[in-house]
Amino acid sequence: MADPASRRTGGSSAVRCIVITLIAIILLVGFAVLITWLVIRPKKLVYTIESGKVSGFELHKDHLNASFDFYLRAYNPNRRVALYYDSIHASVLYDDQTISFQTLEPFFQPRHNVTRLEFKSTAQSVALQKSIARDLRLEKAAGDIELEIRLKARIRFKVGIWKSSHYTLKVFCSNMEIHPNSTRTFKQKECDVDT
Ligand SMILES: *[C@@H]1O[C@H](CO)[C@@H](O)[C@H](O)[C@H]1NC(C)=O
Ligand SMILES: *[C@@H]1O[C@H](CO)[C@@H](O)[C@H](O)[C@H]1NC(C)=O
Ligand SMILES: *[C@@H]1O[C@H](CO)[C@@H](O)[C@H](O)[C@H]1NC(C)=O
Repeated sequence: MADPASRRTGGSSAVRCIVITLIAIILLVGFAVLITWLVIRPKKLVYTIESGKVSGFELHKDHLNASFDFYLRAYNPNRRVALYYDSIHASVLYDDQTISFQTLEPFFQPRHNVTRLEFKSTAQSVALQKSIARDLRLEKAAGDIELEIRLKARIRFKVGIWKSSHYTLKVFCSNMEIHPNSTRTFKQKECDVDT
């Protein structure tokens, strides 16, 4: 006849069994995630502005005309991860004010690949804030103007046949010094990436 004490042990051994099973499941899942991560070894995407040109730069009465032509190097260092760029918006900013933008063609970037994107846009009679126009005029007179390029893309990752859902990728290429109307060599800049 089972006394209360042994009934208690029976109950606690059932609980122990459930706990052990749960821990085993958690360990297995964790192990699977670790293995997957080790196999994929995701590496950060690298973006560099390789060259930049500003032409037709004119600034009158706080209105700007200019054409921008940049080459962006997109490097996917991952050996097992490919990328879908489903939409890409690129903008040129001066002093946090957007002065031109462009939508780039969607593309697929294979594993371990470098793709160069040309980014061409024009600012036509873009109204600038008075203070920003003044600063731009001063910098231009002194030589170089300091621009920023921002990219915002909707991307998906592909590993084998598995495709992820959408992520927003943000790339900031700041402090790019460019001499308008000049072919002076451009200092390459690596951009900051935020996924
Ligand atoms: C820049 O080039 C455009 C045409 O290419 C010209 O109209 C403009 O005067 C030039 N600006 C300067 C500051 O040289
Ligand atoms: C910019 O270009 C437009 C059209 O080509 C012209 O009407 C305007 O005067 C130009 N603005 C400046 C600031 O040069
Ligand atoms: C990167 O991928 C693009 C698009 O598939 C291809 O055209 C290009 O040749 C590839 N570049 C390298 C370095 O593999």
